Amino acid sequence: MIDKLRNLFTSALIQAFGDELSSIDPLVVPASNPKFGDYQCNVALSLAKTLQQPPRLIAQTIINNVKLDNFCEPLEIAGPGFINIKIKPEYIAKKIKLAYQDDYLGITKSDESYNIIVDFSSPNIAKEMHVGHLRSTIIGDSIARILELRGYNVLRLNHVGDWGTQFGMLINYLRTEKPEVLTTANAVEIGDLVTLYKQAKIKFDQDLDFQEQARQEVVKLQSKDPESIKAWQLLCEQSRREFEIIYQLLDIKLTERGESFYNPFLQDIITDLEDANILTEDQGAKCVFLDGFVNKEGNPLPLIVQKSDGGYNYATTDLAALKYRINEDKARRIIYVTDAGQSNHFAQVFQVAKKANFIPENVELVHVPFGLVLAEDGKKIKTRSGETIRLKDLLDEAVNRAKLDLQKRLQTEERNETEDFINQVSKIVGLSAVKYADLSQNRTTDYKFSYDKMLSLQGNTAPYLLYVYVRVQGISRKGNIDLNNLNSETPIIFTQDSELVLAKHLLQLDFIIKEVEKDLLPNRLCLYLFELSQKFNQFYDQCPILQAEEKIKLSRLVLADLTAKVIKLGLSLLGISVLERM
Ligand code: ARG
Repeated sequence: MIDKLRNLFTSALIQAFGDELSSIDPLVVPASNPKFGDYQCNVALSLAKTLQQPPRLIAQTIINNVKLDNFCEPLEIAGPGFINIKIKPEYIAKKIKLAYQDDYLGITKSDESYNIIVDFSSPNIAKEMHVGHLRSTIIGDSIARILELRGYNVLRLNHVGDWGTQFGMLINYLRTEKPEVLTTANAVEIGDLVTLYKQAKIKFDQDLDFQEQARQEVVKLQSKDPESIKAWQLLCEQSRREFEIIYQLLDIKLTERGESFYNPFLQDIITDLEDANILTEDQGAKCVFLDGFVNKEGNPLPLIVQKSDGGYNYATTDLAALKYRINEDKARRIIYVTDAGQSNHFAQVFQVAKKANFIPENVELVHVPFGLVLAEDGKKIKTRSGETIRLKDLLDEAVNRAKLDLQKRLQTEERNETEDFINQVSKIVGLSAVKYADLSQNRTTDYKFSYDKMLSLQGNTAPYLLYVYVRVQGISRKGNIDLNNLNSETPIIFTQDSELVLAKHLLQLDFIIKEVEKDLLPNRLCLYLFELSQKFNQFYDQCPILQAEEKIKLSRLVLADLTAKVIKLGLSLLGISVLERM
């Protein structure tokens, strides 16, 4: 609808003021307040200066030139020159029928399908997968799902930190402290591996001999010494098994392509930068000086791509990865989902890649930053004894609490359910709550992790939305109606305001999805679904369904079923599945 309006207003602008305005954005947006109608066109205000005319006059000229095809009520000018647009109910009814027939409920495919890479999750071997990685996993997965539904070829890449000098340190430590880890599979729990890693780091920082041995380990590993490679592989497998538990639990699909994959291409990057004449040597290190990044003294900062000892950096790997993703993967949009702490890193890598001419015109690089996850007291999330929380424990806790809530509710409602039912419902509710709590926040801000809030049946939470879906299934059970048999030719009749309000909201889905595709903010989809649920609940309070006369009953059933379907599809794009009962 909004696209249609945009086209109509663009034509009107050309008609009224000439071809020069053909590339102007007509500024058609959903109305800021329903009392102004459904949409508004704000272009008259922004044209006042160029056209040297009062905005209200411009608005009137536009109105005189729009060919509305009869799907809107007469246009009205408001305030300083806004044009209010109200869609006719007949048109809404027609669109609802179309959406109801459509497998994607009105979500359109993109005009062009190209390759997009979403680089997300990306934990580090032998280190903890922490809440930051959980956030990246949840947000990245949702973005990937949305882009997939829009018809792009999405490559979901797990850029695991599986290479670097830390392996020399760790292997050297394990050789004396726990040699079996280096030769036998599953000889250590990941938690213990993390502890060993920390101990190794302490020793590394204190002991010069140890440092030297660790460096030799790195050299051995780099020269592909079979014994070292074997040890490295075992360490990777160990961590991978642990990551896999989380991915399974959260239903995340990822292709692992860790940092080590790009080792063969690192030297080429140095050559490329040299050829592009942007490489400088500074105290033995090879680097590129950056625009717009200065140190405390105001001098330009370098991005080091090769250290004086010949080793490469995180940034070098990212440059190699970028080149590979463009030339081999043929990606047109590359999206990196990491904490906001890495914003500078990506800005610097992107700048150097552009300077080196790695990035063709039509390729877009985007860093999708997110804030911290904090405990309810605003501090870092920790266990009671002050240690970092294991992700598995955090997720299990959500499921356990969901189970307790459910058991309480069953008791009050005097319901009897099987153990299977209880387990399945608590698992979905608990995990959905964690995902939704994360996704419903504007990702750029920090958010406080609160089990109570995220599991509540009230407010912008997963359980609230899941419950709306359950409600609709309840209507069908109660009325003995197979929703699948509802005829998409059923006439949609609006007798109450709340029906029309709900219907209009249902038709916004396509617009919202396209917005998320553009700005990569899944919280906009969450807000949309939350508002849909609220509007459904108002409709449900005001409009009896099963008791209504046949024609109205059918129309309301279609609205209810379409709501349920939109919630199911919308939640699936957030990585959340629905329940028939809860
Ligand atoms: N392993 C990194 C970390 O844990 C994240 C990697 C993000 N992706 C990338 N291409 N740099 O912080």
